[in-house]
Amino acid sequence: MSATEQRGIRPSDLIDVDRLWRRLMRLAEFGATSAGGVNRLALSPEEIAARKVLADWAREAGLSVFNDPIGNLFFRLEGADPAAAPVLSGSHIDSQPTGGKFDGTFGVLAALEAVCALALAARKPRRSIEAVAWTNEEGSRFSPGMMGSEAFTGQRALDGMLAVEDVNGTSVRSALAHVLAAEPDISRRPLGFPVHAYVEAHIEQGPILEREGKSIGVVSGIQGSRRFRVTVRGEAAHAGTTPRRDRKDAVLAAVGMIDALAQLVRDPEDVMFTVGLFRVQPNAPSVVPREAYFSIDLRHPDNDVLGRLGDAIPDCCHANGGACTVGVEEIAHAPSLGFPGRLRETISAAAERLELPWQEIHSAAGHDARQLHYHCDSGMIFIPCRDGISHNESEWTEPHQVADGSRVLADVLWELADAR
Ligand code: GLV
Ligand code: MN
Ligand code: MN
Repeated sequence: MSATEQRGIRPSDLIDVDRLWRRLMRLAEFGATSAGGVNRLALSPEEIAARKVLADWAREAGLSVFNDPIGNLFFRLEGADPAAAPVLSGSHIDSQPTGGKFDGTFGVLAALEAVCALALAARKPRRSIEAVAWTNEEGSRFSPGMMGSEAFTGQRALDGMLAVEDVNGTSVRSALAHVLAAEPDISRRPLGFPVHAYVEAHIEQGPILEREGKSIGVVSGIQGSRRFRVTVRGEAAHAGTTPRRDRKDAVLAAVGMIDALAQLVRDPEDVMFTVGLFRVQPNAPSVVPREAYFSIDLRHPDNDVLGRLGDAIPDCCHANGGACTVGVEEIAHAPSLGFPGRLRETISAAAERLELPWQEIHSAAGHDARQLHYHCDSGMIFIPCRDGISHNESEWTEPHQVADGSRVLADVLWELADAR
């Protein structure tokens, strides 16, 4: 036992909560919106600038910095046994276009704060501890998301990801080349390595912890999701002269489909169905639309329900296409999952020791921990956020809530890093 531990000082006592808060606010400047939110899309110039600041903070604390072929960024505190599989903790710093200051960023900065603080401990942990910022979790610019964690764990091939294009035709390959070219001083490592355990801290993005007056959520699992893209092809025509019977109006067909899909997924009540992206071609007021393109995000905690409803989506779209041709592509299918009890117990025990009220909670949102759970023991720590608001510029979490979550994380990482 170290002198620090003998004096009863825990790793969580080393966390500098003011520094962590300052860093959260500093990072929010990259892509800041006038409404107080963040628009920092994956692999954007704003993200490149934010990554540089992260790397500078890590180097100041004496950590080694690495990136990999998909752009994941790692900050390593070397353990007493450098050959032992490290403990990993992090999240993402890309945001939705109308994102907030905390989604993802809290988990990256809490992990970075933990490794910076633990670097000051009187002794090294047995295993190395690494903080990580995964590439493109949100999937807002390049869809589907979770690219960094999926490439790392081998869930999806890198080549396919590199070919994905944003709405302007820029590929992941080309945007990523800019990111990596901006980091000539960062050592590149190959994709993936053995990990002892992964812990991700995140805001809840829902109202439960706040309502229940709990500081910490010990996440039991993540609800499943399926994503589709639907392309409806009609024919461009004059909006005034083309008789109804001759029209192939892609938007009217798409709207009919969405209405039918909304009926299809009405039961059970907790099915989440979202059409968040809708594009029209040629997008001109006096032209019958030639093409409509929309996304479907379907989520439910029960894999049977997710399977049944998701499987019915293509037929429902085709049945409502009218004179148009319809293409339905499923781009992601992530079943519901549960995190292992051992890690959940480690997290709840740390919360108990810090006398923080906690409860188990199921994650309705997706996270990189989903992919990591296929790779190593994984778990998540939630903190409350105001009114459960997220994917919104007004997303907010109080400094003391950030402090609670990061202190639990530090104790958990230390305990896992000392494990055999
Ligand atoms: C992640 O941002 C999600 O959409 O669940
Ligand atoms: Mn997130
Ligand atoms: Mn998000």
